[in-house]
Amino acid sequence: MLVSVKAPAKINLTLDALYKRQDGYHELEMVMTTVDLFDRIDLFEKESSSITLESSSGLVPQDERNLAYRAAVLLREKIGIKRGIHIRIDKHIPVAAGLAGGSSDAAATLRGLNRLWGLGLSDEELAAIGAEIGSDVPFCVYSGTAIARGRGEILAPLPPPPPCWVVLAKPGHGVSTADVFGRLKVDEIAEHPETEQMAEALRKRDYDHMVRLLGNVLEPVTMEMHEDVGKIKKKMKEFGADGVLMSGSGPTVFALIRQESRARRIVNSLRGFCRQVYCVRMLGVRTESVLDGIRT
Ligand code: C5P
Repeated sequence: MLVSVKAPAKINLTLDALYKRQDGYHELEMVMTTVDLFDRIDLFEKESSSITLESSSGLVPQDERNLAYRAAVLLREKIGIKRGIHIRIDKHIPVAAGLAGGSSDAAATLRGLNRLWGLGLSDEELAAIGAEIGSDVPFCVYSGTAIARGRGEILAPLPPPPPCWVVLAKPGHGVSTADVFGRLKVDEIAEHPETEQMAEALRKRDYDHMVRLLGNVLEPVTMEMHEDVGKIKKKMKEFGADGVLMSGSGPTVFALIRQESRARRIVNSLRGFCRQVYCVRMLGVRTESVLDGIRT
């Protein structure tokens, strides 16, 4: 039997760090939403009890280091079963990019296995398991749009952003989230994003306000390490983006644009300058992530 699951990419409309906690993590406040860019996870039942994984991308680990693999291991442990599974990841979301690709694959694996194995776990239960894998996994279990607090695992749903186009540009290198957080000096943050106001802009469906409120305290940190982040931002603005921000710990930069024609112009402006460029729609609503149900 097989189940196929969609795993959407997320972007941060805001990302704020309030303080560094005793456990080494940062207390965060962020508004996250999904965009129309997906990985596809196929989960195949196996005769043996082993877990195996293959990915269409050579850039992600194909073994127990992969977050989707870890999700399957952890779920089996929690339930106390030993059923085997083969995980196939059709990768479209850029890797180590600030778009939660790995976290989304893990969340999709939890959702898919919950269905395939008929476990009947709630989203809350899956999100709690996901939190042990990574801070962004709980959001990815629900998808849609939410304020995330704590390490990222305390979620309050929000309405989706107003419809618009999202141009994503990923510089040639990835970044390590731990490295970026490690360089962040919380006491020296010049400007904190207005999380509550961003939530209010979404509730009022106020596009202009949403665009003005985009903010990410990790952006200057990653920008200092990788100057192309700033260059991409500048180019996107020059070519008519309404708002531009780095997502998560980066290095992917996204532009929000109302009109498709302007979005395409921005994409063209980045040709030859940045190899991984995507023009997708804002999504922001929960995707029914189990694609085709269970097949035999
Ligand atoms: O939770 P996750 O493994 O995705 O986090 C990766 C790294 O990012 C952590 O090891 C930590 O260094 C940093 N982090 C943080 N505060 C958070 C989330 C992540 O400092 N709230």
